[in-house]
Amino acid sequence: MELIRSISKMRDWSKSHRERGRKIAFVPTMGYFHDGHLALMKRASELGDKVVVSIFVNPTQFGPTEDFARYPRNLDRDIDLASSVGVDCIFYPEASEMYPEGFDTWVEVPGLAKGLCGASRPGHFRGVTTVVLKLFNIVAPHVAVFGQKDYQQLKIIQKMVRDLNIPIEIVPHPIVREPDGLAMSSRNTYLSAEERKSALCLYKALMRAKELYEGGVTSAKALRQEVEEIIRSTPLTRIDYCFLGSGETLTEEEELGPGSVIALAVWVGKTRLIDNVLL
Ligand code: PAJ
Repeated sequence: MELIRSISKMRDWSKSHRERGRKIAFVPTMGYFHDGHLALMKRASELGDKVVVSIFVNPTQFGPTEDFARYPRNLDRDIDLASSVGVDCIFYPEASEMYPEGFDTWVEVPGLAKGLCGASRPGHFRGVTTVVLKLFNIVAPHVAVFGQKDYQQLKIIQKMVRDLNIPIEIVPHPIVREPDGLAMSSRNTYLSAEERKSALCLYKALMRAKELYEGGVTSAKALRQEVEEIIRSTPLTRIDYCFLGSGETLTEEEELGPGSVIALAVWVGKTRLIDNVLL
């Protein structure tokens, strides 16, 4: 497996594989891999002949009071894990090369970025779309895999690719969970033992809502009540948002149906966790 730091070397690598007719599959990440990331890499190796993974804790998608500085990092561990699932190349750029002095071009998808995580994290998705487009331009993959765990991010990337005619196929991957149901996340490492127990309330609440929906309850109001009650009765938690609405436009709906999504962001202690279920 190759580790590439410079943008020009990454371009050369991709160019030479493209010229040999290889299909390049790409998984952008911020590192500190868990089984969710590894599942995306395995999917990528089914989709392409060569798999590139980027590791870049992107400063522009963190707010001034967020966890950029303490976001978990461990390159050696990530290299071992990525090579164990057959990744061909890790792109690990430096922030100074990605954002040189005077950098001032931004990509925004304001409609889809307005609600949910966009409302509580102003500027977050502008940082995500900008860095993902930069990575797409550098890595030049044929296909890229994104997790449904970050559902709003996935929808925003799909829209950016459509709107800007980016010649890359976006492949969604289902949420990978711990055995008890907690969605895997690099941020789960922040949780104390007690918080880890409380963190399960996101999954429990979403499963309860799905069960009610499948039993015929489609009223967003009724489902919201149930979800919020399960979270409120869990110690150490505070709801950031509870969204029930269209999985395409990300606007609220009074009656849920096929294609609706229930998405949650919940503070567990000082850690903000997200999860969702597609109906
Ligand atoms: P990161 O949080 O490292 O996630 C990288 C990819 O892994 C994303 O597509 C995310 O949705 C996916 N992922 C994370 N946890 C998952 C889980 N439990 N199940 C399935 N997929 C999961 O998302 C980012 O990085 C960044 O915003 C990035 C796109 C790299 C831009 O900086």
